[in-house]
Amino acid sequence: MVGTNVVDRAADDESIAEWERHAGWWHREFTGGVDVEYAEQILPLIDASLPSSGRVLDLGSGDGQVTRLATARAGLAVGVDAVRAQVERAAALGGGSFVQARLSELPLRSASCRAVVACLVLEHVSDLDAAFAEAARVLEPDGRLVAVINHPILQTPGSGWIDDQVVDPPEQYWRIGPYLPEVTTVEEVDDGVDLTFHHRPLHRYVNGASACGLLLEYLEEPAPPPAYLERYWSFPAADTVPRLALLRFRNLP
Ligand SMILES: C[S@@+](CC[C@H](N)C(=O)[O-])C[C@H]1O[C@@H](n2cnc3c(N)ncnc32)[C@H](O)[C@@H]1O
Repeated sequence: MVGTNVVDRAADDESIAEWERHAGWWHREFTGGVDVEYAEQILPLIDASLPSSGRVLDLGSGDGQVTRLATARAGLAVGVDAVRAQVERAAALGGGSFVQARLSELPLRSASCRAVVACLVLEHVSDLDAAFAEAARVLEPDGRLVAVINHPILQTPGSGWIDDQVVDPPEQYWRIGPYLPEVTTVEEVDDGVDLTFHHRPLHRYVNGASACGLLLEYLEEPAPPPAYLERYWSFPAADTVPRLALLRFRNLP
């Protein structure tokens, strides 16, 4: 069943085309255990948030690494991704059912999922409200939405480490870029890999979900895992700056 939201499909077309071009990069760099943040933090956090039974829907499933985790945990999982190259790769790897669709138009019956997971995908979707509305529609009453997002306060566009050797003594600190404005940026995340991100302040996530009957019941802001700090962030106090936030919402009956 297709959702009834009026959505601006064109707004996501370019972003989906970018992911189509860069799906291979994602598979090489972030799946199959090669990314320390996924291996040490993201997948264990999601695993701990999943129900032990019922159908789990994985939004923006990529190559299906979260879907497979959900299948192992709950027994039944479906991955949805708008990008053909992602769905084909996920289907080849197996461990769940995979469907090509947008978050704003989920091809699932209402109240048919015990849990919905959205791991690092909401930032790529232009219509956040449509994504929440669809997640709420397909969730059973009391079902949960687990969203992992780039930390919306600390990872704003323009954030990053400043290594100031001009002041005496030198200072190293985390600069936070403009937080309140909602902005869309195209970022070069690797050589030749440009992706669209939508920055939104935290209240947009909490209130957008709430407007669809999804109540925030748990928030986690983990320190970057040790292997990540060792490999990429050798700054003092780097373990005080979260990169991610996990939000768990309950679908009010
Ligand atoms: C950062 S990857 C995360 C993949 C997966 N959730 C994981 O954690 O391994 C973002 C995924 O969202 C998908 N995506 C981007 N925009 C989408 C949209 N509008 N609807 C559905 N999927 C989308 C991309 O194809 C990509 O697979």
